Amino acid sequence: MSSPVRFLTGITTTGTPHLGNYVGAFRPAVEASRRPGTENFYFLADYHALIKCDEPARVHRSTLEIAACWLAVGLDPERVLFYRQSDIPEVTELTWLLTCVTGKGLLNRAHAYKAAVDKNAAAGTDPDADITAGLFMYPVLMAADILMFKAHKIPVGRDQVQHIEMARDMAQSFNHLYGEHFVLPEAAIDESVAMLPGLDGRKMSKSYDNIIALFAPREQMRKQIAGIVTDSSAPGEPKQVEGSALFQIYQAFASSEETGQLRRAYADGIAWSEAKQLLFDRIDREIAPMRERHDALIRNPAELEKVLAAGAAKARTIAAPFMAELRQAVGLRNLSAGSGKAAPAKAARVALPSFKQYREADGRHYFKLVDAGGRLLAQSAGFESPQEAGRAVAALKRDGLAGSHESLQLAPGISQADVATALQRLAQSTDR
Ligand code: TRP
Repeated sequence: MSSPVRFLTGITTTGTPHLGNYVGAFRPAVEASRRPGTENFYFLADYHALIKCDEPARVHRSTLEIAACWLAVGLDPERVLFYRQSDIPEVTELTWLLTCVTGKGLLNRAHAYKAAVDKNAAAGTDPDADITAGLFMYPVLMAADILMFKAHKIPVGRDQVQHIEMARDMAQSFNHLYGEHFVLPEAAIDESVAMLPGLDGRKMSKSYDNIIALFAPREQMRKQIAGIVTDSSAPGEPKQVEGSALFQIYQAFASSEETGQLRRAYADGIAWSEAKQLLFDRIDREIAPMRERHDALIRNPAELEKVLAAGAAKARTIAAPFMAELRQAVGLRNLSAGSGKAAPAKAARVALPSFKQYREADGRHYFKLVDAGGRLLAQSAGFESPQEAGRAVAALKRDGLAGSHESLQLAPGISQADVATALQRLAQSTDR
């Protein structure tokens, strides 16, 4: 039995969810949460909200709305971990530990921070004008979200891929210094997920002010859909599906059969007003039952609060002991525990692969490469002198397997790639 793959994703609690969020995030996430062999973590990234928004009422309202959305669209808090980031104090604690192993230069390269600096440069102001340290630290907080729960896969949009790579870097740095504590996460980009156009045909986004709210009252949604841009072709004139925002939005909700019908209706010259009615009906069919659940939850925030409290309690049964382990690893320890435990420097060394040189009864000198846990990876042939063996080790470290294959035998079940990885880890550990 292989252990389940862990997926984790957060949504920042600013703003009101729109159809683009539904199609691009909520809907696929709920579908994914039902896959067997997976464990799924969903959270409200309200600490991240503070980076973008200094209006308490808005953060509060948005947290309520996004929590209600998750449940309304069908997330089952019994089978996934569903929680609010700020209910897990261990996340901020971990943020500090990661901060201390993160190069400032790494964060300088983050797209969001760089864009803000570039904007200042263009305006001729101080490069860091109006940039908070919160924005700068955004990737570290996000890494803490991910690494805390040893998530393997992070479903995100392309704009977030760099953040996942940074989380990986931080995990690696920490592991090199303090031993293997973190799982290295990967971004999971679902190519099949549609990018939904907004009212004006550009990507649906709050920053373009072109959104259709997910759970606006029915009549408001009808009005918004009536506002989707179309070309000026008259009823009866054939219409292009290419570049039609209306068609693309329809496609994101309809079966392929329904989509085919609309395609034919376009060719037959359906009136735009009629096409908009079709779109409204199709969306409403999917959304209406969810809207009802959503509205009921918004009217009963105590119920939501209860669900979130239960989720936080569950999440903290993972976060609290893991944080205790990490505190121990970095040396934040109970003083009365004495020095019976392994010293930190030793712990770090134990967690790396190593070379061991020795002399056999045949009088020749050998070395072997063992992994962090002491398992044999490779074994050398015999050398005349310890100096020769030492030179072979140095060559391996410098050039990798390429030059040494005749004098080196891989242990059973060990591949060249395993040895290469071990050598790489060693090289990285001595770089710093
Ligand atoms: N930065 C993400 C966004 O704006 C939200 C987020 C915060 C997140 N922490 C995360 C996403 C951890 C995935 C994993 O979309």
